[in-house]
Amino acid sequence: MTFHGIWGLPFVDLEGSVDATALPAVHAEIPLGLLEVAPRYTGGSLKWMGVCAPWVMDDGFKDVNFVLEAMRDEDFATFCALGDAKLDPRTTPRTFGDETERPLSRKQERWLEMAHGVYFPWKTCYHFLENDRWDDKHSGAGKTFAPEAEAAFPKTLAFLRSLPFREIGRAVLFGVHSSDHAPFHRDSEPGSTLSVPQSISIYPDARKKLTLASEDGETRLAIDARLFWFNDMDYHGVDAAPEFRWSIRVDGVFEPAWLRDLERRVRRRR
Ligand SMILES: [Fe+2]
Repeated sequence: MTFHGIWGLPFVDLEGSVDATALPAVHAEIPLGLLEVAPRYTGGSLKWMGVCAPWVMDDGFKDVNFVLEAMRDEDFATFCALGDAKLDPRTTPRTFGDETERPLSRKQERWLEMAHGVYFPWKTCYHFLENDRWDDKHSGAGKTFAPEAEAAFPKTLAFLRSLPFREIGRAVLFGVHSSDHAPFHRDSEPGSTLSVPQSISIYPDARKKLTLASEDGETRLAIDARLFWFNDMDYHGVDAAPEFRWSIRVDGVFEPAWLRDLERRVRRRR
């Protein structure tokens, strides 16, 4: 098959397997809730993380950590001074953001973008439920929804809690701004896990579509579904469009009975 996929399909459409009646209310709540919280940039170091598709690597969009590596010492000192924590530019490693111990401050994100042309694909990223590390995104141990999120997104959180997860390890809103794109990348290395990492993607707005790409980039499939599970070992990205678009991704562990029933239904349909 062209895609790694799930059970022989490129993705699993969850419409009909999950109660979606709350989606219009979620859709209306999100833009208002986002006004009450402080979303952040993310995705600026996907190339450095080694997860981008090969054809993305030389697309000209600048990566946080490649820029920091090549930066003059005085500029790196400026960058360090913009951090939330006190950093000594002489001893601080020049790697920041996801997969490092050094999160970017809001000022550092904006400065890298404006002074050094770094590209952040998701300029509105908000964690309803935070994961500390990438490899921790499927475990719900010790995690709760942020109190601030409870206040700003009550309907959304009620919907997320209704999803068929035994535990939720991460729930994140990804907003792509007008004219921006999300580069093709994969979240899991093929063969790194025996089973497909479990997640539900929520795209209530038909204007935002996640596109899957084959290993060579030749075959593409724009997922036309409001609720779906895809194999994040497949390259995926979002094409640029004239308007702001958002989606929510929830990672965790599915209810085993629900998963068995889903598999039975999917295989019967094929
Ligand atoms: Fe991804």
